[in-house]
Amino acid sequence: MLDYLNPIVLNPSAAAGALDAKRPTVNNGLDVLDPSRYYSREFMQKEWTHLWPRVWLLVGVTPDIPEAGDYLTFEHGHESFLVVRQEDNSIKAFYNVCPHRANRIALNDSGSVDKFTCAFHGWKFGKDGKLDCITDEESFHPQLVAHRPSMTELRCDQIGGLIFVNMDGKAPPLREWIGLPPGYIENYEIEKMHVVRHQTTEWMANWKTGLDGFVETYHLPHIHPQTQSVMEDQSQLDTYPNGFQRMIVPICTKSHRVGDQTTVDANLQFMMREAGMDPASYTGDASGVRAAVQKAKRERAARLGLTHYDKLTDGQLTDSWATGFFPNVQIGMHPEGVFVMRFVPHPTDPERFYYDNMIMFRYVDDPNYFVPAWMGLPTNTDITGMTRPKIERHAADDMSNADLGEVLNQDVELIASVQKGSKSRGFRGPLWSEQESRIRHYQREVDRYLNGEK
Ligand code: FES
Ligand SMILES: [Fe+2]
Repeated sequence: MLDYLNPIVLNPSAAAGALDAKRPTVNNGLDVLDPSRYYSREFMQKEWTHLWPRVWLLVGVTPDIPEAGDYLTFEHGHESFLVVRQEDNSIKAFYNVCPHRANRIALNDSGSVDKFTCAFHGWKFGKDGKLDCITDEESFHPQLVAHRPSMTELRCDQIGGLIFVNMDGKAPPLREWIGLPPGYIENYEIEKMHVVRHQTTEWMANWKTGLDGFVETYHLPHIHPQTQSVMEDQSQLDTYPNGFQRMIVPICTKSHRVGDQTTVDANLQFMMREAGMDPASYTGDASGVRAAVQKAKRERAARLGLTHYDKLTDGQLTDSWATGFFPNVQIGMHPEGVFVMRFVPHPTDPERFYYDNMIMFRYVDDPNYFVPAWMGLPTNTDITGMTRPKIERHAADDMSNADLGEVLNQDVELIASVQKGSKSRGFRGPLWSEQESRIRHYQREVDRYLNGEK
């Protein structure tokens, strides 16, 4: 059990500097922040001016654009970015806007082209963004197009299968800015996974209200009590430079709040079967299930040639390493797959955001290996990565048709309620416990951008 001076440390024997070692606590103070940050247009405008143009934004994943000419688009507020695989295998990013009269150049979420053609007047651009031809060019005064207007490129870089863009020429390079140590992301080999489900849903809250609800497990026993039988709700929390943070959520273990700590009940048995174990052959009690599942997964990985398991700690084989990429991304990392969650601000309304969730899975061609049920995929999902699923989009008034699953439906309701409460005259600002230290860490970093300290 933690108290505010003694945080949870899951692996006390981890060497200092190891990826699972508890990091020294960063002092982010105890200021109670003004709740207007969650609803005011002025605060939203400051974010558009000082935050979003200056940070690296996660726009996509490399397995989505494997071949030259493959592209994806990603919308962030009023901007749309166009990310294209080049002939030399590098990746370039452009503002998805035509230099002629501002039409969006690529109108789809993804595709494959030899050249881009703007639908408005037919101007053509190469994969490298360079102007290829202007329709009826002789009708332009030569002076106007002498600079050969091309698509506007912006900085683009990648790490471990994740593609980022940055609108700011002066921001530090991606690798310097990512606060996570080398190997942290790469060891999961996200570039060998595929997106098997992609949903974008519109929630009635500020993007920070949404994100706050995903970066702590303090609410689990109250909002998601169904998780208690297989998940501990007191996580190890770590803060990294530049607003990055993570929590390690122990899975295949009962919450310490459950009275019976010994019986291996149906839910734990289910988790054992998911790892290819036969629960009938397990002789220990509930407290040993997590370690037994780790062992089984490691053996299975060795059998199947999943060499990236060698780079992962035992804890990583069962637990969720829910990792916060400043400002608005969390990736739930597991050896079988990852959940890439982006909390995308609405272009004009500070009280709406888009919850964009890509579920990625590492396909293994073996009849005895299957996608874990806890990934929540519909039964007809193509898990091989051969077909990239379309984005399932649901606006706020259409959420009853969004198939988000039980836990996320609980969050949708909760977060809308918190959003309303944050505007109450009776609310004085959030009081964050040490279990909510990730919130304070990223929110204070937001302030540093807005105050000009970054
Ligand atoms: S706006 Fe693109 S060709 Fe005219
Ligand atoms: Fe939740």
